[in-house]
Amino acid sequence: MISHIECMNLTRNFKGDGTQTIALKDVNLSFNKGEFTAIIGPSGSGKSTLLSLLGTLDKPSEGTIMYDNEEVLRQSKNKIADFRFEEIGFIFQQFHLLPTLTALENVMTPLFSRKVPYNKLERAKEVLGQVGLSDKLNSLPSQLSGGQQQRVAIARAIVHKPSWLLADEPTGNLDTETGERIYDLLKELHVQENCGVLFVTHDPALAAKANRIITMKDGSVLSDKLLEHVGATL
Ligand SMILES: Nc1ncnc2c1ncn2[C@@H]1O[C@H](COP(=O)(O)OP(=O)(O)O)[C@@H](O)[C@H]1O
Ligand SMILES: [Mg+2]
Repeated sequence: MISHIECMNLTRNFKGDGTQTIALKDVNLSFNKGEFTAIIGPSGSGKSTLLSLLGTLDKPSEGTIMYDNEEVLRQSKNKIADFRFEEIGFIFQQFHLLPTLTALENVMTPLFSRKVPYNKLERAKEVLGQVGLSDKLNSLPSQLSGGQQQRVAIARAIVHKPSWLLADEPTGNLDTETGERIYDLLKELHVQENCGVLFVTHDPALAAKANRIITMKDGSVLSDKLLEHVGATL
């Protein structure tokens, strides 16, 4: 279980036909599992790129990421995939549920072809219960509201017991009230499951409820504030 992530001089360039976009520029940040962190900043400021790198879905052009004291991205593809399975849960704005699978089947997808020390079906039911969807196990995504679909996606993100949840605008497609409930659920999981949470948001009210707010601009960290208020958990 990784409890600390450290980014050192992280740069990510995207090269096109004669053009280059610097998505992240010399970013230095460290994260502890006890934090519930909001990442804010205008569109194109590098938030998604940062989450992809932290979640080992992408590799930096320059710089390193240490997970505890291991440089995971230097390992083989299979090892990186194993690491991601053990440590990271992703949640996206667009839910990314498979439309022909039921809620229960969607939640089980990360476990396919994985050996785990628990019963997969029981575990999937358990996490759907945790997100309040025990009565929707056999529903297709099209039969669920946006908030319910995001709950299925969250259940899928935690089914393999990751130690970090990375959520890229998880409330971006939801109305304010539903978004707040999803936020509360992430906070609950942070405490109950002891998951480090990093979430990108455009909503200043949600960001203000986190323990820490990182503001990005043009691929750099503009500010990094620790907040001490009732929202602080661990
Ligand atoms: N795969 C990619 N190929 C080319 N450019 C990219 C790619 N991903 C991101 N970018 C560029 O990198 C910059 C940062 O993007 P992104 O991390 O998605 O920002 P944010 O999530 O803050 O909106 C943007 O200019 C974007 O166009
Ligand atoms: Mg983004």
